[in-house]
Amino acid sequence: MSMISSSQAVPVVSIQNAATWALPLTVTKFLASCAAGDIIFPTPNGLPPNFLKEYNHDRSWDFMAALLYFPVTETENNGITEHEDGNCVTFVFQDQVGGLQVRKNGEWNPVTPAQDTLVVNLGDVIQVLSNNKFKSATHRVVRQQGKSRYSYAFFYNLHGDKRVEPLSKFTEEIGEEPKYRGFLYKDYQAMRMRNKTHPPAKPEDVIHITHYAITS
Ligand SMILES: [Fe+2]
Repeated sequence: MSMISSSQAVPVVSIQNAATWALPLTVTKFLASCAAGDIIFPTPNGLPPNFLKEYNHDRSWDFMAALLYFPVTETENNGITEHEDGNCVTFVFQDQVGGLQVRKNGEWNPVTPAQDTLVVNLGDVIQVLSNNKFKSATHRVVRQQGKSRYSYAFFYNLHGDKRVEPLSKFTEEIGEEPKYRGFLYKDYQAMRMRNKTHPPAKPEDVIHITHYAITS
């Protein structure tokens, strides 16, 4: 896996074996759009139009990951363990191999690859801003039999100094109590990083967005 900033996104097309991928032109367009910062954000119903663009213009914390998952082995099929993305929105361009799954009602469902489409994954920030109206998707990647999976993920983030808290549109304006206390984006990201660098002994001690949940 390699990670590069959005301003360096286009060269990732040249990673090993990518030239043999089935949709190089579409991939190139996707990467170019990310690099130019002109992905059209599909505002979910219930959020003000252009909301994210107005909420945070700063694209300096965005990044892209180029991911390669090797085929399943006799003892290992884990690509990425189940998790929620900690950012605003993630755009995923996946090849035809598959393996991305999303959990809904306790069941794992495949996100079936479809040509020329992007997967749009809402993250923890949207969950907090919408006061749980929109849920951060729990997802994972399961490695496949006999095939490597390639994907590109563009992480639409906030600047680290941006404060995240439920919007009045989803709280006082509709008579609901905030379900989260406010926090700085960089503080949450630092805790998520520590989950990886210093994994807690007990799974229940891993920091999730529920760390900021207000419990009555
Ligand atoms: Fe993810």
